[in-house]
Amino acid sequence: MKVSIQKYDPSVDNEPYIVEYEIEKTENMSVLEAIIAVHEKYEPLAFDYSCRGRMCGRCAVTVDGEPCMACTTAIKGDCLIAPLKGFDVVRDLVVDKESFHDRISKLDLRIRPTEITVEEFEKPIDFEEVYLPMLSTEYCCRCGCCYSACPAVQMEGARSRYVGPAGMVALAYRNLDPYDQGDRVAQAVQEGLWNCIMCGTCDRVCAAGIDHQSLWTSLREQAEARGLTEKPRNFYLF
Ligand code: SF4
Ligand code: SF4
Ligand code: FES
Repeated sequence: MKVSIQKYDPSVDNEPYIVEYEIEKTENMSVLEAIIAVHEKYEPLAFDYSCRGRMCGRCAVTVDGEPCMACTTAIKGDCLIAPLKGFDVVRDLVVDKESFHDRISKLDLRIRPTEITVEEFEKPIDFEEVYLPMLSTEYCCRCGCCYSACPAVQMEGARSRYVGPAGMVALAYRNLDPYDQGDRVAQAVQEGLWNCIMCGTCDRVCAAGIDHQSLWTSLREQAEARGLTEKPRNFYLF
């Protein structure tokens, strides 16, 4: 099997270049195993991974133009593996996700100005209505695949007014959190809820199986009920 890998070391290379490697395809080989095979057989490659099980989100790369988690994506045959598009390349397949993570982390803090009451604390949480919808959003490991593939984000680049699907998932999670007291619907509108064109790409590339469009639809219904239907006008500088 022929695996092509985009390489780039900004300290010595003027631009990225592609190298082809021949490796033996094993049964059920993942993209990550193919990268490791190249790394061990030919030459050192810069790439990132940890859990090998869709939990850390560190292994995300682009395969033939489609973002995916390398550890859980089966390699089908000859392909081109490149860094996650839409992010600055640190080296080879490693990208800089710092501003992506920072922006989401700032959104996702629980807002709770008042003390949790004893009644609230003792009230059982309804599994079907509260816990189940929250559970799917908890599977987001912030791999960045959806952000990388989202046309609403990538049209504007790193300074996009739209926080992107992963950030919107974090807001949807807090909106479902029964202890959170933030106005997450207004915040979602401010962060670009109406910038999404409902293309479904985030659903397709998300290895965690999160149903983004259902989350957006629920947030939009709540926003519409309050007349919050404007796209944000502010610019983020970071
Ligand atoms: S929503 Fe899915 S694709 Fe997006 S960052 Fe989370 S796990 Fe990755
Ligand atoms: S559905 Fe919306 S958030 Fe998801 S990829 Fe398309 S534009 Fe982006
Ligand atoms: S190595 Fe952790 S998600 Fe792939």
